[in-house]
Amino acid sequence: MSERFSFDLHATDGKARTGVIQTPRGEVRTPAFMPVGTAATVKAMMPESVRATGADILLGNTYHLMLRPTAERIDRLGGLHRFMNWERPILTDSGGFQVMSLAGLRKLTEKGVTFKSHIDGSKHELTPERSMEIQRLLGSDIVMCFDECPALPADRDRIAESMRLSMRWAERSRTAFGDRPGHALFGIMQGGLEQDLREESAESLKAIGFEGYAVGGLAVGEGQAAMFGCLDYAPGFLPEDKPRYLMGVGKPDDIVGAVKRGIDMMDCVLPSRSGRTGQVFTRHGVLNIKNARHMDDPRPLDEACTCPACRNYSRAYLHHVFRSQEIISSMLLTWHNLHYYQEIMAGMRDAIAAGTFAAWEADFHAGRAQGDI
Ligand code: GUN
Ligand code: ZN
Repeated sequence: MSERFSFDLHATDGKARTGVIQTPRGEVRTPAFMPVGTAATVKAMMPESVRATGADILLGNTYHLMLRPTAERIDRLGGLHRFMNWERPILTDSGGFQVMSLAGLRKLTEKGVTFKSHIDGSKHELTPERSMEIQRLLGSDIVMCFDECPALPADRDRIAESMRLSMRWAERSRTAFGDRPGHALFGIMQGGLEQDLREESAESLKAIGFEGYAVGGLAVGEGQAAMFGCLDYAPGFLPEDKPRYLMGVGKPDDIVGAVKRGIDMMDCVLPSRSGRTGQVFTRHGVLNIKNARHMDDPRPLDEACTCPACRNYSRAYLHHVFRSQEIISSMLLTWHNLHYYQEIMAGMRDAIAAGTFAAWEADFHAGRAQGDI
């Protein structure tokens, strides 16, 4: 295993890329999908089950963990990997984005942001320096810069001002992170849907220098067409030899479209959260297990899926346990959704390596057009 953090690009097909991120805690095959483990758990899943779906890396959250159980407590208990029993790589988001969407009574200044906890109303402060300290205490392998992300639509002046603040915070994040062999710090590009602001942001980040670069500020209400419009140019502003991470995306077709445009990593709560609300992603499209039409259906969710939910249980059973609010419903549906997402990633990696991404993508879209599932 590598003692340092590195990224090797193995093949490209059009703008799509496949490669491997090496870390002291293991490899991350790209394009990679990172299941979200916000509160030191991928909800409804044992870590060994998450691994069995094919995940190489999880995402954790500074915001949630600093409030409960606190970064200092996790550090005393041996770090986040040991605490949650996941020994492979973990990427942590820096907190700014979650503060803006979850916390109460926020105050933003040049220094950072003060806010009230959504759990107990207690007062807290996050700055670039404190976010770097928390992510170090957690033992995160890939640390994200502390940034700010305005909700879209927002006017251009607001987006420009916010992006420039995030770039000053990126510089402070780099300084506070210091030199930590084996750990990586990723910069986060902002700039909304303004091409020149995206380019300015990328230039600022490249001048500072990071081990990887994220595209932030998307999937915040702009819609898929606008997001793809931005992804048609934004990844091209970033270095070719470093991983590119699209934050908080998305639905299966968002992920495929992002990889096609040169993205290497993604995360989203969708497959795990949907597992708990009865929404099931399959190669034929989306179904809701709550629907009464599944009540007498002896078939699995997807005949071709090899996950435990599909190998061992009928739609009728999954409908029953969902309606009965049995815990196994969340376990099985989450497992299936995460397994399906990882199958998409593996399929794309193989297709890019073989130079057949366009054909793979056509198959992906054709499979989803088959109507009632
Ligand atoms: N998650 C989704 N989008 C973003 C973003 O722009 N910044 C951060 N830090 N996290 C995100
Ligand atoms: Zn399945």
